[in-house]
Amino acid sequence: MNSPQPIFPKNFYWGASTASHQVEGGLHNDWTVWELAHANQLAKSASRKLNWLPNWPDIKSQAEKPSNYVSGEGVDHYHRYKQDFEIVKKLNMNAFRFSIEWARLEPEEGKWDEAAVEHYRQYGNELRARDIEPFLNIWHWTVPTWFEAKGAFTKRANVDYFTRFVQKISDEYGADLSHIITLNEPNVYASLGYITANRPPQEKSLLKSAWAYWHLRLAHKRSYKLLKQAHPHLQVGIAAQLGNIQAKRPHNLLDVITTKFMRYAWNWWFLRRIRLQQDFIGINYYFTDYYQNFKPRNPKAPINDLGWYMEPEGIYPILLRTWARYKKPIYITENGVADAKDQYRRWWIEETVIAMERALSEGVDLRGYFHWSLLDNFEWESGWWPKFGLVKVDREQGMKRTIRPSAQWFADLIKQLR
Ligand code: BGC
Repeated sequence: MNSPQPIFPKNFYWGASTASHQVEGGLHNDWTVWELAHANQLAKSASRKLNWLPNWPDIKSQAEKPSNYVSGEGVDHYHRYKQDFEIVKKLNMNAFRFSIEWARLEPEEGKWDEAAVEHYRQYGNELRARDIEPFLNIWHWTVPTWFEAKGAFTKRANVDYFTRFVQKISDEYGADLSHIITLNEPNVYASLGYITANRPPQEKSLLKSAWAYWHLRLAHKRSYKLLKQAHPHLQVGIAAQLGNIQAKRPHNLLDVITTKFMRYAWNWWFLRRIRLQQDFIGINYYFTDYYQNFKPRNPKAPINDLGWYMEPEGIYPILLRTWARYKKPIYITENGVADAKDQYRRWWIEETVIAMERALSEGVDLRGYFHWSLLDNFEWESGWWPKFGLVKVDREQGMKRTIRPSAQWFADLIKQLR
């Protein structure tokens, strides 16, 4: 890719993505409570769950420490955000996706913390001052403890609390923004919180999962309406986790039917419900899965540090299908690899850029790419050992930030492509 063609539109957004809980530090929400209650047990079961990974010897000591499973001080992004925005600038990016922590804004039911409200106003201003377009994500899974105690999204009446929070965001920041993402990956939340139940609220219940999913749909629709009424200029959508789901044996009827079912259930069900209430579609892409006899049977290599099979070019069919179905502008709102040694990231991005070029050349209205993530961060129930950052963060050395070689390479590429 020495002389890339000028196929990316001039106003294409090149950015990185983060989520409040994974970087800010100093939080109190449903996750921080769960982490403290489960850290010991997660550390104890690490070997059983992870010792099949080729990099197990490298991660063992970290993965077996309870502190790995506590978000704690995060990477102190709450206080270091200006420094982090300088890094975004250095990477030649012109956009940034972040989320607002509901538990900060409304730590007690119905009481707004004005200092937190001001914090995020300043945060947005600092981005704009650097010509970095803010993509504000309202909900990236975490909720205030009082909302969790009421049953979170499993109860229809609770949607009102969420929309009151959205109204506050609309009142405070709506006029200054152009892009809002209401929800991050409702499918992942509903499945991992209530079906596999390896995440909070960790309740195995198909019924609760279905209700939570159904009510998140309602939460988005209402939020869309109120945001657009107050600020018609706003572009509003969700960040959907979409998988490139394929049949392992393309001529086997069983595999084909499973694939069709999985595509609809995982990728399209939610987007279809909200198709009239979205101005763009955000795609989070990590997974290609080949289905055989109802189960994913992926090639054994290449895999990333978490053991996930990597097929970066799988984003191409996803872009094409999403475009064919909805004919709406598309942003890749997340995409990346857990790769502590930085051995795959450049290849992954390179393949992704080629896939984006192909999609663009075929008329897909793709408008931006946000890499996951700007910084090494707290990877939910896996904790701190997986490294998704373009920028390495050394939490033991004063939270030192170091741009990884792949990120420097990406920055140079963005410069050529912009
Ligand atoms: C989530 C991120 C997460 C990433 C890697 C996405 O599903 O939105 O919060 O860190 O995947 O697992």
